[in-house]
Amino acid sequence: MKAPPDCPAADLLDRPLNSLRISVIDRCDLRCFYCMPEEHYTWLPQEDLLSFAEIRALVDAFVLAGVRKVRLTGGEPLLRRQLPELVALLRQQPAIEDLALTTNATHLGPLALPLRRAGLDRVTASLDSLRPERFKALVRRDTLPQVLEGIRAAATAGFASLKINTVLIRGFNDDELEDLIEFGRQVGGEVRFIEYMDVGGATQWSADAVFSKAQILARLEERLGPITPCGPQGAAPAGRFRLADGTCFGIIASVTEPFCRTCDRSRLTADGQWYLCLYAQEGADLRGRLRAGQSREELAAFIRQGWEGRTDRGAQERAADPHRGVLYQVEDLRQDPHREMHTRGG
Ligand code: GTP
Ligand code: 5AD
Ligand code: SF4
Repeated sequence: MKAPPDCPAADLLDRPLNSLRISVIDRCDLRCFYCMPEEHYTWLPQEDLLSFAEIRALVDAFVLAGVRKVRLTGGEPLLRRQLPELVALLRQQPAIEDLALTTNATHLGPLALPLRRAGLDRVTASLDSLRPERFKALVRRDTLPQVLEGIRAAATAGFASLKINTVLIRGFNDDELEDLIEFGRQVGGEVRFIEYMDVGGATQWSADAVFSKAQILARLEERLGPITPCGPQGAAPAGRFRLADGTCFGIIASVTEPFCRTCDRSRLTADGQWYLCLYAQEGADLRGRLRAGQSREELAAFIRQGWEGRTDRGAQERAADPHRGVLYQVEDLRQDPHREMHTRGG
Protein backbone atom coordinates (compact mmCIF):
# COMPACT_ATOMS: atom_id res chain seq x y z
CA MET A 1 0.00 0.00 0.00
CA LYS A 2 1.30 3.46 -0.86
CA ALA A 3 1.89 5.90 2.04
CA PRO A 4 -0.08 9.17 1.91
CA PRO A 5 2.09 12.16 0.92
CA ASP A 6 2.38 13.47 4.51
CA CYS A 7 3.83 10.15 5.82
CA PRO A 8 7.51 9.31 5.50
CA ALA A 9 8.16 6.95 2.61
CA ALA A 10 8.65 3.31 3.66
CA ASP A 11 10.70 0.82 1.66
CA LEU A 12 9.85 -2.79 0.77
CA LEU A 13 11.24 -4.00 4.11
CA ASP A 14 9.05 -1.42 5.87
CA ARG A 15 11.98 0.81 6.80
CA PRO A 16 11.08 4.52 6.90
CA LEU A 17 13.08 7.16 5.05
CA ASN A 18 14.28 9.23 7.99
CA SER A 19 17.94 10.08 7.75
CA LEU A 20 20.05 11.66 5.01
CA ARG A 21 23.85 11.75 4.96
CA ILE A 22 25.18 14.50 2.75
CA SER A 23 28.78 14.44 1.60
CA VAL A 24 29.69 18.09 1.00
CA ILE A 25 33.12 17.41 -0.54
CA ASP A 26 34.94 14.27 -1.69
CA ARG A 27 38.41 15.49 -0.70
CA CYS A 28 40.12 14.75 2.56
CA ASP A 29 43.28 16.05 4.25
CA LEU A 30 44.07 12.67 5.87
CA ARG A 31 44.81 9.31 4.29
CA CYS A 32 43.44 6.80 6.80
CA PHE A 33 44.60 3.28 6.09
CA TYR A 34 41.05 1.89 6.29
CA CYS A 35 39.57 4.45 3.91
CA MET A 36 42.17 6.07 1.63
CA PRO A 37 45.25 3.86 1.55
CA GLU A 38 46.23 4.67 -2.06
CA GLU A 39 48.70 7.28 -3.35
CA HIS A 40 46.43 8.73 -6.06
CA TYR A 41 42.72 9.41 -6.31
CA THR A 42 40.29 10.54 -8.99
CA TRP A 43 38.32 13.52 -7.69
CA LEU A 44 34.86 14.64 -8.70
CA PRO A 45 34.85 17.51 -11.23
CA GLN A 46 34.54 20.86 -9.44
CA GLU A 47 31.62 22.02 -11.62
CA ASP A 48 29.61 18.97 -10.59
CA LEU A 49 29.64 19.85 -6.89
CA LEU A 50 26.31 21.06 -5.57
CA SER A 51 26.19 24.66 -4.38
CA PHE A 52 24.81 25.36 -0.90
CA ALA A 53 21.55 26.58 -2.46
CA GLU A 54 21.28 23.32 -4.43
CA ILE A 55 21.91 21.24 -1.31
CA ARG A 56 19.18 23.18 0.50
CA ALA A 57 16.79 22.65 -2.44
CA LEU A 58 17.40 18.90 -2.35
CA VAL A 59 17.05 18.79 1.43
CA ASP A 60 13.66 20.51 1.08
CA ALA A 61 12.60 17.73 -1.32
CA PHE A 62 13.90 15.02 1.04
CA VAL A 63 11.95 16.62 3.88
CA LEU A 64 8.77 16.36 1.80
CA ALA A 65 9.51 12.65 1.39
CA GLY A 66 9.97 12.18 5.14
CA VAL A 67 13.58 12.98 6.11
CA ARG A 68 14.02 14.52 9.58
CA LYS A 69 17.71 13.86 10.33
CA VAL A 70 20.60 15.26 8.33
CA ARG A 71 24.29 14.51 8.78
CA LEU A 72 27.04 16.35 6.91
CA THR A 73 30.03 14.23 5.95
CA GLY A 74 32.83 14.12 3.40
CA GLY A 75 35.60 13.32 2.51
CA GLU A 76 36.36 15.86 5.19
CA PRO A 77 33.40 18.24 5.38
CA LEU A 78 35.38 21.06 7.03
CA LEU A 79 37.46 21.38 3.85
CA ARG A 80 34.36 22.78 2.17
CA ARG A 81 34.72 26.54 2.46
CA GLN A 82 32.19 28.49 4.55
CA LEU A 83 30.55 25.33 5.90
CA PRO A 84 28.82 27.26 8.74
CA GLU A 85 26.85 29.08 6.02
CA LEU A 86 25.45 25.74 4.82
CA VAL A 87 24.61 24.79 8.40
CA ALA A 88 22.73 28.07 8.84
CA LEU A 89 20.86 27.50 5.57
CA LEU A 90 19.81 23.99 6.57
CA ARG A 91 18.87 25.15 10.07
CA GLN A 92 16.23 27.37 8.48
CA GLN A 93 14.39 24.23 7.32
CA PRO A 94 12.06 23.76 10.31
CA ALA A 95 11.34 20.06 9.72
CA ILE A 96 14.97 19.05 10.36
CA GLU A 97 15.00 17.77 13.92
CA ASP A 98 18.65 16.76 14.05
CA LEU A 99 21.57 18.35 12.21
CA ALA A 100 24.91 16.63 12.77
CA LEU A 101 28.44 16.51 11.37
CA THR A 102 31.02 13.71 11.04
CA THR A 103 34.57 15.11 10.84
CA ASN A 104 38.19 14.06 11.22
CA ALA A 105 38.53 17.12 13.51
CA THR A 106 41.75 18.52 11.99
CA HIS A 107 39.98 21.85 11.33
CA LEU A 108 37.47 21.66 14.13
CA GLY A 109 39.43 23.88 16.58
CA PRO A 110 38.57 27.23 14.95
CA LEU A 111 35.27 26.02 13.49
CA ALA A 112 33.53 24.37 16.45
CA LEU A 113 32.00 27.59 17.80
CA PRO A 114 30.98 29.06 14.42
CA LEU A 115 29.30 25.74 13.56
CA ARG A 116 27.45 25.66 16.87
CA ARG A 117 26.36 29.29 16.44
CA ALA A 118 25.12 28.48 12.93
CA GLY A 119 22.80 25.84 14.45
CA LEU A 120 24.65 22.52 14.28
CA ASP A 121 23.25 20.14 16.94
CA ARG A 122 25.80 17.35 17.21
CA VAL A 123 29.36 16.46 16.27
CA THR A 124 31.06 13.11 15.73
CA ALA A 125 34.85 13.22 15.46
CA SER A 126 37.18 10.42 14.35
CA LEU A 127 40.05 9.46 16.63
CA ASP A 128 41.76 6.13 16.04
CA SER A 129 44.77 6.44 18.31
CA LEU A 130 46.08 8.64 21.10
CA ARG A 131 49.69 7.77 20.36
CA PRO A 132 51.33 10.30 18.02
CA GLU A 133 53.52 7.84 16.09
CA ARG A 134 50.69 5.36 15.66
CA PHE A 135 48.25 8.09 14.67
CA LYS A 136 50.71 9.30 12.05
CA ALA A 137 51.21 5.80 10.68
CA LEU A 138 47.46 5.29 10.40
CA VAL A 139 46.44 8.60 8.79
CA ARG A 140 49.77 9.42 7.12
CA ARG A 141 49.72 12.97 8.50
CA ASP A 142 51.19 14.37 11.72
CA THR A 143 48.02 16.02 12.99
CA LEU A 144 47.17 14.40 16.32
CA PRO A 145 47.63 17.67 18.31
CA GLN A 146 45.24 19.53 15.96
CA VAL A 147 42.70 16.72 16.20
CA LEU A 148 42.79 16.68 20.00
CA GLU A 149 42.47 20.47 20.05
CA GLY A 150 39.51 20.21 17.67
CA ILE A 151 37.74 17.64 19.85
CA ARG A 152 38.33 19.73 22.97
CA ALA A 153 36.96 22.81 21.20
CA ALA A 154 33.82 20.86 20.25
CA ALA A 155 33.48 19.65 23.85
CA THR A 156 33.13 23.22 25.11
CA ALA A 157 31.14 24.70 22.23
CA GLY A 158 27.75 23.62 23.59
CA PHE A 159 26.73 20.83 21.21
CA ALA A 160 23.90 18.57 22.30
CA SER A 161 26.23 15.60 21.95
CA LEU A 162 29.80 14.78 21.08
CA LYS A 163 30.80 11.32 19.86
CA ILE A 164 34.20 9.92 19.08
CA ASN A 165 34.53 7.26 16.34
CA THR A 166 37.39 4.76 16.50
CA VAL A 167 37.86 2.24 13.71
CA LEU A 168 39.64 -0.75 15.22
CA ILE A 169 42.23 -2.70 13.31
CA ARG A 170 43.31 -5.94 14.91
CA GLY A 171 46.88 -5.90 16.13
CA PHE A 172 47.18 -2.18 15.43
CA ASN A 173 45.06 -0.14 17.84
CA ASP A 174 42.99 -2.73 19.72
CA ASP A 175 45.20 -2.17 22.79
CA GLU A 176 43.86 1.39 23.20
CA LEU A 177 40.27 0.61 24.14
CA GLU A 178 40.56 1.76 27.75
CA ASP A 179 42.71 4.80 26.93
CA LEU A 180 40.19 5.99 24.36
CA ILE A 181 37.27 5.46 26.73
CA GLU A 182 39.19 7.43 29.37
CA PHE A 183 39.88 10.24 26.89
CA GLY A 184 36.18 10.31 26.01
CA ARG A 185 35.29 10.54 29.67
CA GLN A 186 37.70 13.45 30.19
CA VAL A 187 36.26 15.51 27.33
CA GLY A 188 32.63 14.46 27.83
CA GLY A 189 32.36 12.54 24.54
CA GLU A 190 31.03 9.03 24.00
CA VAL A 191 33.46 6.69 22.26
CA ARG A 192 32.14 4.27 19.62
CA PHE A 193 34.33 1.44 18.45
CA ILE A 194 33.74 0.56 14.79
CA GLU A 195 34.51 -2.76 13.15
CA TYR A 196 36.80 -2.31 10.15
CA MET A 197 34.47 -2.59 7.17
CA ASP A 198 35.06 -3.84 3.63
CA VAL A 199 33.62 -0.67 2.09
CA GLY A 200 34.70 0.68 -1.30
CA GLY A 201 38.13 2.23 -0.79
CA ALA A 202 39.22 -0.21 1.92
CA THR A 203 41.60 -1.88 -0.51
CA GLN A 204 43.70 -3.37 2.28
CA TRP A 205 40.74 -4.99 4.05
CA SER A 206 40.91 -8.57 5.25
CA ALA A 207 38.67 -10.51 7.62
CA ASP A 208 41.69 -11.12 9.87
CA ALA A 209 42.11 -7.41 10.48
CA VAL A 210 38.59 -7.01 11.92
CA PHE A 211 38.50 -6.64 15.70
CA SER A 212 34.94 -7.72 16.36
CA LYS A 213 32.25 -6.61 18.77
CA ALA A 214 32.62 -9.91 20.67
CA GLN A 215 36.36 -9.32 21.00
CA ILE A 216 35.89 -5.73 22.15
CA LEU A 217 33.43 -6.78 24.85
CA ALA A 218 35.59 -9.71 25.98
CA ARG A 219 38.70 -7.57 26.27
CA LEU A 220 36.95 -4.77 28.16
CA GLU A 221 35.21 -7.20 30.52
CA GLU A 222 38.50 -8.88 31.29
CA ARG A 223 40.12 -5.54 32.17
CA LEU A 224 37.27 -3.45 33.59
CA GLY A 225 34.67 -5.90 34.89
CA PRO A 226 31.04 -6.54 33.92
CA ILE A 227 29.47 -4.66 31.02
CA THR A 228 25.73 -4.15 30.62
CA PRO A 229 23.85 -3.14 27.48
CA CYS A 230 22.04 0.20 27.76
CA GLY A 231 18.76 0.65 26.00
CA PRO A 232 17.42 -0.52 22.62
CA GLN A 233 19.47 0.24 19.51
CA GLY A 234 16.56 1.37 17.28
CA ALA A 235 17.74 2.58 13.88
CA ALA A 236 21.15 3.68 15.26
CA PRO A 237 24.20 1.79 14.01
CA ALA A 238 25.78 1.67 17.46
CA GLY A 239 24.81 -0.68 20.28
CA ARG A 240 25.46 1.12 23.59
CA PHE A 241 27.06 -0.42 26.67
CA ARG A 242 27.82 0.63 30.24
CA LEU A 243 30.94 -0.15 32.25
CA ALA A 244 30.81 -0.92 35.96
CA ASP A 245 31.81 2.71 36.73
CA GLY A 246 28.83 4.02 34.72
CA THR A 247 30.74 5.16 31.62
CA CYS A 248 28.90 4.44 28.37
CA PHE A 249 30.45 3.52 25.05
CA GLY A 250 29.17 2.27 21.70
CA ILE A 251 30.04 -0.48 19.26
CA ILE A 252 29.22 -0.31 15.56
CA ALA A 253 29.34 -3.94 14.48
CA SER A 254 28.62 -3.45 10.77
CA VAL A 255 30.71 -6.52 9.86
CA THR A 256 29.65 -9.16 12.39
CA GLU A 257 26.15 -7.85 13.25
CA PRO A 258 24.91 -5.61 10.42
CA PHE A 259 22.05 -3.25 11.23
CA CYS A 260 20.45 -3.34 7.76
CA ARG A 261 17.11 -4.51 9.15
CA THR A 262 16.50 -1.10 10.72
CA CYS A 263 18.54 1.08 8.35
CA ASP A 264 16.63 4.30 7.67
CA ARG A 265 19.42 6.21 5.93
CA SER A 266 20.37 7.15 2.41
CA ARG A 267 23.26 9.22 1.09
CA LEU A 268 23.80 12.14 -1.21
CA THR A 269 27.25 12.63 -2.73
CA ALA A 270 28.82 16.06 -3.17
CA ASP A 271 27.86 15.93 -6.88
CA GLY A 272 24.23 15.11 -6.18
CA GLN A 273 24.06 11.33 -6.70
CA TRP A 274 21.68 9.55 -4.36
CA TYR A 275 22.56 6.12 -2.94
CA LEU A 276 20.15 3.88 -1.03
CA CYS A 277 22.93 1.90 0.68
CA LEU A 278 26.58 2.25 1.59
CA TYR A 279 27.18 -0.79 -0.64
CA ALA A 280 24.80 0.13 -3.50
CA GLN A 281 26.28 -0.30 -6.99
CA GLU A 282 24.27 2.49 -8.60
CA GLY A 283 22.95 5.86 -7.51
CA ALA A 284 20.26 8.14 -8.91
CA ASP A 285 21.19 11.48 -10.45
CA LEU A 286 19.42 14.17 -8.43
CA ARG A 287 21.75 16.95 -9.62
CA GLY A 288 20.61 16.45 -13.21
CA ARG A 289 16.96 16.62 -12.20
CA LEU A 290 17.51 19.69 -10.06
CA ARG A 291 19.52 21.52 -12.74
CA ALA A 292 16.85 20.59 -15.32
CA GLY A 293 14.44 22.66 -13.24
CA GLN A 294 12.37 20.01 -11.45
CA SER A 295 10.25 21.38 -8.64
CA ARG A 296 10.50 20.38 -5.00
CA GLU A 297 7.35 18.30 -5.39
CA GLU A 298 8.68 16.51 -8.48
CA LEU A 299 11.97 15.75 -6.76
CA ALA A 300 10.16 14.54 -3.63
CA ALA A 301 7.95 12.24 -5.71
CA PHE A 302 11.04 10.78 -7.39
CA ILE A 303 12.75 10.28 -4.00
CA ARG A 304 9.65 8.70 -2.50
CA GLN A 305 9.29 6.33 -5.42
CA GLY A 306 12.96 5.38 -5.26
CA TRP A 307 12.77 4.67 -1.54
CA GLU A 308 9.54 2.69 -1.89
CA GLY A 309 11.34 0.24 -4.20
CA ARG A 310 14.30 -0.20 -1.84
CA THR A 311 15.36 -3.68 -0.80
CA ASP A 312 19.06 -2.95 -0.05
CA ARG A 313 20.74 -4.92 2.72
CA GLY A 314 24.34 -4.44 1.61
CA ALA A 315 26.16 -5.25 4.85
CA GLN A 316 24.02 -8.34 5.47
CA GLU A 317 24.73 -9.63 1.99
CA ARG A 318 28.44 -9.07 2.52
CA ALA A 319 28.26 -10.95 5.81
CA ALA A 320 26.62 -13.92 4.05
CA ASP A 321 29.46 -14.19 1.48
CA PRO A 322 31.76 -17.07 2.49
CA HIS A 323 34.54 -15.69 0.22
CA ARG A 324 34.34 -12.17 1.57
CA GLY A 325 37.33 -10.05 0.55
CA VAL A 326 38.10 -6.57 -0.76
CA LEU A 327 34.93 -5.06 -2.28
CA TYR A 328 36.48 -3.17 -5.21
CA GLN A 329 39.95 -3.34 -6.71
CA VAL A 330 41.80 -0.04 -7.24
CA GLU A 331 41.05 0.01 -10.99
CA ASP A 332 37.29 -0.27 -10.32
CA LEU A 333 37.50 2.62 -7.89
CA ARG A 334 39.43 4.80 -10.36
CA GLN A 335 36.79 4.10 -13.00
CA ASP A 336 34.02 5.36 -10.76
CA PRO A 337 35.02 7.30 -7.66
CA HIS A 338 31.41 7.09 -6.43
CA ARG A 339 32.32 3.62 -5.20
CA GLU A 340 34.70 5.14 -2.63
CA MET A 341 33.61 5.46 1.00
CA HIS A 342 35.17 8.95 1.06
CA THR A 343 32.90 10.00 -1.84
CA ARG A 344 29.84 8.27 -0.49
CA GLY A 345 30.13 9.83 2.96
CA GLY A 346 31.62 7.63 5.68
P1 GTP B 1 24.16 8.93 14.83
O1 GTP B 1 23.69 7.56 15.21
O2 GTP B 1 23.09 9.82 14.33
O3 GTP B 1 24.99 9.58 15.88
O4 GTP B 1 25.13 8.84 13.59
P2 GTP B 1 25.96 7.68 12.96
O5 GTP B 1 26.54 6.85 14.03
O6 GTP B 1 25.17 7.05 11.92
O7 GTP B 1 27.09 8.51 12.20
P3 GTP B 1 28.61 8.33 11.94
O8 GTP B 1 28.94 9.23 10.81
O9 GTP B 1 29.37 8.53 13.18
O10 GTP B 1 28.73 6.84 11.46
C1 GTP B 1 29.33 5.89 12.25
C2 GTP B 1 29.86 4.73 11.44
O11 GTP B 1 28.82 3.84 11.12
C3 GTP B 1 30.47 5.09 10.12
O12 GTP B 1 31.76 5.55 10.29
C4 GTP B 1 30.43 3.77 9.41
O13 GTP B 1 31.50 2.97 9.80
C5 GTP B 1 29.14 3.19 9.93
N1 GTP B 1 28.05 3.48 9.00
C6 GTP B 1 27.54 4.69 8.67
N2 GTP B 1 26.55 4.57 7.78
C7 GTP B 1 26.43 3.26 7.51
C8 GTP B 1 25.58 2.52 6.64
O14 GTP B 1 24.76 3.04 5.91
N3 GTP B 1 25.73 1.18 6.68
C9 GTP B 1 26.63 0.56 7.46
N4 GTP B 1 26.66 -0.77 7.43
N5 GTP B 1 27.46 1.22 8.27
C10 GTP B 1 27.38 2.56 8.29
N1 5AD C 1 35.48 0.75 8.15
C1 5AD C 1 34.76 1.35 9.11
N2 5AD C 1 34.53 2.68 9.15
C2 5AD C 1 35.07 3.41 8.18
N3 5AD C 1 35.05 4.73 7.95
C3 5AD C 1 35.75 4.98 6.82
N4 5AD C 1 36.23 3.84 6.32
C4 5AD C 1 35.84 2.85 7.14
C5 5AD C 1 36.03 1.46 7.15
N5 5AD C 1 36.74 0.83 6.22
C6 5AD C 1 34.37 5.68 8.84
C7 5AD C 1 35.27 6.30 9.87
C8 5AD C 1 34.87 7.72 9.98
C9 5AD C 1 33.77 7.85 9.00
C10 5AD C 1 33.89 9.08 8.20
O1 5AD C 1 33.85 6.74 8.12
O2 5AD C 1 34.99 5.81 11.11
O3 5AD C 1 34.39 8.01 11.28
FE1 SF4 D 1 39.96 9.18 7.20
FE2 SF4 D 1 37.51 10.20 7.00
FE3 SF4 D 1 39.42 11.06 5.51
FE4 SF4 D 1 38.44 8.66 5.12
S1 SF4 D 1 37.35 10.53 4.82
S2 SF4 D 1 40.62 9.27 5.06
S3 SF4 D 1 38.00 8.11 7.23
S4 SF4 D 1 39.36 11.18 7.73
